[in-house]
Amino acid sequence: MPLHRRFTARNALILLLVWLLLALLFHLKAELWDPPATQHPLTSTDPPTDGHRGPSSQQSDPKKLGGTPAASKRRTAVVIASQKTENATWLDEYFPQWEKNTYRVDDESAPLTVPKNKGRESMVYLTFIIENYDKLPDNILFIHPNRYQWHNDDPDYDGLPMLRHFQIPYLEEEGYVNIRCAWSLGCPSEIRPLAEEGEHRAAVHAGGDYKKAFEKLFPGKPVPKYVGVSCCAQFAATREKILERPKSNYVYYREWLLSTDLDDAISGRILEYSWHMIFGKEPVHCPSAEVCYCKVFGLCELDCPENGSCSGRYTLPPYSTLPNGWPFVGWKGEERNRSAPEE
Ligand SMILES: *[C@@H]1O[C@H](CO)[C@@H](O)[C@H](O)[C@H]1NC(C)=O
Ligand SMILES: *[C@@H]1O[C@H](CO)[C@@H](O)[C@H](O)[C@H]1NC(C)=O
Ligand SMILES: *[C@@H]1O[C@H](CO)[C@@H](O)[C@H](O)[C@H]1NC(C)=O
Repeated sequence: MPLHRRFTARNALILLLVWLLLALLFHLKAELWDPPATQHPLTSTDPPTDGHRGPSSQQSDPKKLGGTPAASKRRTAVVIASQKTENATWLDEYFPQWEKNTYRVDDESAPLTVPKNKGRESMVYLTFIIENYDKLPDNILFIHPNRYQWHNDDPDYDGLPMLRHFQIPYLEEEGYVNIRCAWSLGCPSEIRPLAEEGEHRAAVHAGGDYKKAFEKLFPGKPVPKYVGVSCCAQFAATREKILERPKSNYVYYREWLLSTDLDDAISGRILEYSWHMIFGKEPVHCPSAEVCYCKVFGLCELDCPENGSCSGRYTLPPYSTLPNGWPFVGWKGEERNRSAPEE
C-alpha cells in the first residue's frame, strides 16, 4: 500500500510537470512564432494611425515598452556627439527607454568614435548612419551631450524639458523634425549662397563657402537663393526618412567632410544648414514659431507676437558658455531661480 500511494503521488507530479511544460510551449509559440498583428514597417507615404498620441503615451512611458506583443513598438535612440570632457549621463537617468549612442570625437579608444575629429557633430551623425544603415532604430534624435546648452530651445536652456516635450508622433508623421523653433539664429535666411559667395566676415559664418560646397554635396541641384533652418544641428529623423537615400550618399557626404580643406567650424556649419534638405525639406525650413512649438513640443497655448518667437520661450544669451552653477547662478554670478519647471 505505501508503495502504491507513492506511485500515485509521483504520477500526479509527473502529470503536473507535463501540463506545465505544455503550457510553456503554447506560451512560447504565441510569443515567438505567431506573427504580431500590427508590426509592419512604416513608410512616409503610410502615416502612422496612432499619429496623434499625446506626450504621455507609449513613447514616453517606459512602463508600456514591455507591453503586449501585438502592439507595434518603435525603437527610439539618441546619437550624441560628445567630447571626452562632456557628460551625457543625465540622458540615462531621465530617458532610460531610449537607446544611447555616445560618440567621443576626441577619444580613439572610446567604444564609439569617428574616423577623424572634423566637421563638429556632423562627423558623428554621418558615422552613426553609415555604421548602422542596415539596422537603424526607428526614431533617432541627433543631439549634443550637455543638459544645459545656450542654444537649447527652453527658457533655462535646459535639454530636459525640451526633450520631454518633444513629440515623437509628430516626428513619425514628418520624417525629419528640427529640435528648435526660435528663429534666432538660423531663420528665415541664415545663408544666401549666391549673394555671399566668397565672402569671409565672421569666423563661423559659412555663407562664403556654401555655394561651392552645395554644388559638391548635391551635384545637379540648383543652388538655393536662401537657406534657413533654426540653428545648431540638433534634430530628429526616422529610419524610413534616412533610408530614402542610399547609404552611398551618406558615405559621400562623409568623404567630402574628411577631405575638405575648409575649416572645421565652416564644414560643420555647412552640414548644419544642409540636414533639413538631406531629409527632404525645402531650403528654407522655418515654420512659424507658433506652429512649431505646438507641433514639435506640444506647446500650443503660447503667445507669439512675431513669426519667429513666442513669449517666455527663448532669448539669445549674452555668451555661449553658460555660467558655472547655471540655472541657479546667473550671468553676473547672482543667485537665480529657474524660469520654468523641469517638467
Ligand atoms: C556625469 O554627471 C553625473 C551627474 O549628472 C555625475 O554623477 C557623474 O559622476 C558625471 N560623470 C563624469 C565622468 O563626469
Ligand atoms: C510673418 O509671416 C507671414 C507669412 O508667412 C508674412 O506675411 C509676415 O510678413 C510675417 N511677419 C513678420 C513680422 O515678419
Ligand atoms: C527664488 O525663489 C524663492 C522661492 O520662491 C524666493 O524666495 C527667492 O527670493 C527667489 N530668488 C531669486 C533670486 O529670485
